[in-house]
Amino acid sequence: MKYIEIIKNMTLEEKASLMSGKDFWQTQDIERLGINSIFLADGPHGIRKQAEAADHLGLNASVPATCFPTAATVANSWNLELGKKIGEYLGEEAVAQKVNVLLGPGINMKRDPLCGRNFEYFSEDPYHAGKMAAAYIRGIQSHGISACVKHFAANNQEERRMSIDTIVDERTLREIYLTAFEIAIKEGKTKTVMSAYNMLNGEYTNENMHIMRDILRNEWNYEGVVVTDWGGSNDRVAGLLAGNELEMPTTAGETNKEIIAAIKSGKIKEEVLDECVDRLLDLIFTTEDVYKNGYKQEFNVEEHHQVAQEVAEESIVLLKNEGNILPLKKGVTVATIGEFAQQARYQGAGSSIVNPTKLDNTLQCLKDSGLVNIGFEPGFERYGKRSQGKISRACALAKKAEVVLLYIGLDEATEAEGLDRQNMKIPENQLDLLNALYEVNQNIVVVLSCGAAVEMPWITKVKGLVHGYLSGQAGAQAILRVLTGAVNPSGKLSETYPIRYEDTPAYHQFPGKEVSVEYREGVYIGYRYYDTAKVNVLFPFGFGLSYTTFEYSNLQVSKDAVTFSITNTGDVAGMEVAQLYVGCKSDDIFRPSKELKGFAKVLIGAGETKTVSIPFDDKTFRYFNVKTNQWEIEEAQYNLMIGASSADIKLEDTLFVEGTGAPLPYDKAKLPSYYSASKANTIDQNEFEQLLGRKVPVSKWDRSKPLGYNDTISQCQYAKGTFARFTFYSIKFAYWFLKKIGKRTTANIIMMSIYNMPFRGVARMTGGVINMPMLDGILMMVNGHFFKGLRHVLKERSKMLKGVKAQNITQAQAMKEQKNG
Ligand code: BGC
Repeated sequence: MKYIEIIKNMTLEEKASLMSGKDFWQTQDIERLGINSIFLADGPHGIRKQAEAADHLGLNASVPATCFPTAATVANSWNLELGKKIGEYLGEEAVAQKVNVLLGPGINMKRDPLCGRNFEYFSEDPYHAGKMAAAYIRGIQSHGISACVKHFAANNQEERRMSIDTIVDERTLREIYLTAFEIAIKEGKTKTVMSAYNMLNGEYTNENMHIMRDILRNEWNYEGVVVTDWGGSNDRVAGLLAGNELEMPTTAGETNKEIIAAIKSGKIKEEVLDECVDRLLDLIFTTEDVYKNGYKQEFNVEEHHQVAQEVAEESIVLLKNEGNILPLKKGVTVATIGEFAQQARYQGAGSSIVNPTKLDNTLQCLKDSGLVNIGFEPGFERYGKRSQGKISRACALAKKAEVVLLYIGLDEATEAEGLDRQNMKIPENQLDLLNALYEVNQNIVVVLSCGAAVEMPWITKVKGLVHGYLSGQAGAQAILRVLTGAVNPSGKLSETYPIRYEDTPAYHQFPGKEVSVEYREGVYIGYRYYDTAKVNVLFPFGFGLSYTTFEYSNLQVSKDAVTFSITNTGDVAGMEVAQLYVGCKSDDIFRPSKELKGFAKVLIGAGETKTVSIPFDDKTFRYFNVKTNQWEIEEAQYNLMIGASSADIKLEDTLFVEGTGAPLPYDKAKLPSYYSASKANTIDQNEFEQLLGRKVPVSKWDRSKPLGYNDTISQCQYAKGTFARFTFYSIKFAYWFLKKIGKRTTANIIMMSIYNMPFRGVARMTGGVINMPMLDGILMMVNGHFFKGLRHVLKERSKMLKGVKAQNITQAQAMKEQKNG
C-alpha cells in the first residue's frame, strides 16, 4: 500500500467516511489529515459541472463548457489522434473548472439500436470502442486528472436500468462486452471506472466478484478506483468486498456506518477497507497535484470551438450522393427547410448534457457558405403533430430553389438517458414533409441529426444524405463545410444501419422481460450478426462515402502485420479509413465470419499512393475458451480482409496461425443456431441455456412476494397496499398527461427517476433525507400495512433528526474545544 502511514493514522470512522460522497459531486475530506475533497463531473463530450443545484439527470444548467460532438459521432472519425485531442481539450476545460474526475467516456456496446444512450457510446464493435476510449483517456489524463470509463459492464439498455439482470454467457461477456473496457483500462490506463446500475448474471455489477475481482483486479491488474453510478449502490458491504472504493452520491454517512458495523462484527476484515482507502487516496492525491501551484482557470473559448468544429468535420458521414449532387457548387440556390436548421439538434439528453459556450446556427452560417439561401421554412414542429400549413409553405419555397437542404432527425426527448427509443423511425411529421417536398423538387439533400441508427424507407426520395450525428456546438458550420466541399467527408459508420428494426439480432430479446434480459444472440451483435447470417442491411458497419475514390492494392501479410497500398484515384485529397477484419476458416468453434481487428485512417492527396500497415496484436486471433476459462488461439487458417467497410472487402489473404492447443469448448450438436448463425436472432431458451451452461432465471416478477428494496416503483402495480397501487396509477396518469400536453421531456424524467427506480434508490438518492429504516416503513405501507408503516416512518424520522442534532452539538463542542486550544 502506498499510503500506509496515513492510513495507520486514521480512525475506522475516518476511513469509512471516505467510502461515500460528501455531497452530490464531491468526495469526503478529512482536514486533520490534509485529505481534501475532489470533484467528479460529467460528462463524456463536455464538462457538466454544476455550481449550484445538483442532479444527475442533466436538469439544472451547468457552467458553460465546449460541447464537443458526442461519442457516437466521434467514433465515425476512426481517428485515434483526434480522440486523444478531444480528450486533451476536455481535460483542459475540466482543469479550468477544477474537476478531478471527468465522468467519461462511456463505452458500452450498441447491442440494440434502440438503447436510449447509444448516442453517448462509441460503437457496436468492442475493439473500435476500446481504442477510441483509450485515446480519449490518454488525452484527458494528460492533464493530471482522471477519466472515468463507464458503465462497467453489460449496461446496454435504459429500460429498467437500475434493476435489470443481464444474462450473458462467459464468452460473449469477454469477447463483446468486456473487451472495450479491457482496452480502455490497459491501454488508456484510466484511473477511475464506474460500475453499472444493472445486475450481471444475478449480481449487481458493483458487487459482482467475477467482473470486479477476478477480471478487473486480478486479470487486468487494475489499480485505480471504482465509483458506483449515481445511486447505483445496493449492498455497500458487498460492494466494498468487490473492491468498490466510492459510493456516489452522498448517503449522509448511512452506508459508512454499515461498513463500520461489518468490520466490528468481523464480517469483513479491516484490510479490505484499508486497500480501498489506499486506492482512493491515490486518486485524491494524484488528481489534486495539478491544482497545487495555481492553474489556468480559463480556456480559449474560440479555439475550443474550432476544435469542436474540426472534430465534427471528420466525423460526419456521407451516406448517399446520387449523381454527385454533393458537394454543392458556389452560387447554387438552396431552400433551407426543417426545424433543425433553426435550432440544431447537436447533443443528447441526460447526465451528459452540456451548457455550450456558443452554438452555431445553420441559418447564420449559410450566409458565408457561398450558397445562395433563398429562404427558410421549418416545415414541421419538433415535438408537434403534422402541420399542413408548414408543409405547404416549405413546398412553396422548395419550388424556387435548385436544391432543397432538408434538416431532419430525432428530437431530444426521443434520444435520452433513462429511456430507450420505441422504434427506429424518424417522426411521421418529418416524413410527411419529405414526401411533399419530393413532389415539387427532387433535388433533396437530407442533413440528418440523431445519435443512433434509424430506418430509412424514405431514402429513395433523397439524392444526398449527410449524417451529422450529434455534432456538438460547432456542428452546423461543420456540416455546411461538408455540403460545400470545403471539407471532404471521411467519417464511416461505427454501427450498422439495418433495413428494418425486425432484422436486428436482439429484436426478440430487447429490452427483456420484467426481471432480466437474455443476450441470446451471443457474440452475434451488430455486423457480426448481419454479416454471418447474411442479412441485408441498409448501410454496413464501417461505411461512408467521400468526394474522391480510393483503390486498394498490393496486400502483403507477415506474421505480425498486414501491409497494403491505397491510391486516391479522384481529383481531390481525401481521408480513407481502412479496416482489417479477421475470420477463421475452421468451423470447430462458432464465430462471426469476420471481426474488426485493426484500422487506419490516412490522408491521401489526389493521385497519390500511400502504404498502410496494420499490426497484429494480442486480440487479433484470440477467442475466449469456456473450458479452459482463458483466452486461446485456435490453430487454423485465418482470412485477413482489408475492407473499406465490413461489407466491402478490397483485399484478402490467408494466414496459418499456430494455436494454443486448448480443448474445443463446445458440443456442436447442442448449439446448432450458434454454429449456423442464420437464426441467431431467434435462439430458443433451451439452446441459450446450453450456451450459458445453466438454467436462465425466471424472468417474471414474483407477484406473490411483498415488495422489497430492489423492486421498482413500477411494481407497485401489484402491491398489496391500496396506497401503493394508487401511487402507481397516479404516476402512469402523470406520464400520459404530460405527454398529451407535449411535455415529453418531463414525462420522460418521471419514467426514469420515479417509475423505474428501485425502492432503495429512494434512500440512496435523497442524500439522507429518507434513510433505510424510513424506507422500511415506506415498504410496510406499500405492502398493505399503511398505518404501521407510517408510524415506523415517523418514528425513524424523529430518530434521525435527533441523531443529526446530537451530531451537530458534538461537532460544535469539538470546534469550540479546538478554538480554545
Ligand atoms: C449516469 C452516469 C453519470 C451519473 C452522474 C448517472 O445517472 O448513468 O453516466 O455519470 O449519473 O451524473
